[in-house]
Amino acid sequence: MTSAAPATTHGAAQDTLDAHERLLIDQAIARHANRPGALLGVLEDVQAANAHKFLSMAALRYIAERTGVPPSTVYGATTFYSLFNLDPQGDNVICVCRGTACHTRGSRTLLEKLCFDLGMSEHESGETKETEKLAITTPDNRFTVRTVACFGQCALAPVVEVNHHILSHVNERTLQREVKALTQGRK
Ligand code: FES
Repeated sequence: MTSAAPATTHGAAQDTLDAHERLLIDQAIARHANRPGALLGVLEDVQAANAHKFLSMAALRYIAERTGVPPSTVYGATTFYSLFNLDPQGDNVICVCRGTACHTRGSRTLLEKLCFDLGMSEHESGETKETEKLAITTPDNRFTVRTVACFGQCALAPVVEVNHHILSHVNERTLQREVKALTQGRK
């Protein structure tokens, strides 16, 4: 991995760690010490322990420092694996599949309608190419809308994941119902 980590464009909301956060990271590193895939395990644990389910630049720097893994390698892992977030996530995360099977069954319209209903701008939802990953969070931090290249469940297209639950053969009405339930705190 040769690319250098950027300064602080992501996760800028948190540029230092408190003692508790450092302790959590130290514990994660100790748990995974000498195990294969240790770095990924540490990153997963640290993200899971974060209230907004993301890895701040400060956390990545600290992980690099404590493990001796070059910062660029640590950062590279977070950008390579889609499960890692470099920005704070909303309380509810809705992930729309943009793979070919889902696309041909209307996932783009679902995504645009979803963004519209949540008050996200068309620019944010519509300007990206199908192959680009999208992640937008509402200003009140209640919803994050993301896209994925394929969930590997193409027979169920179009597929949308709502707070880690896979929904199959989704249409506008069912998605709207899900969002309404989340908005009203029924889920
Ligand atoms: S294309 Fe959507 S699950 Fe594969």
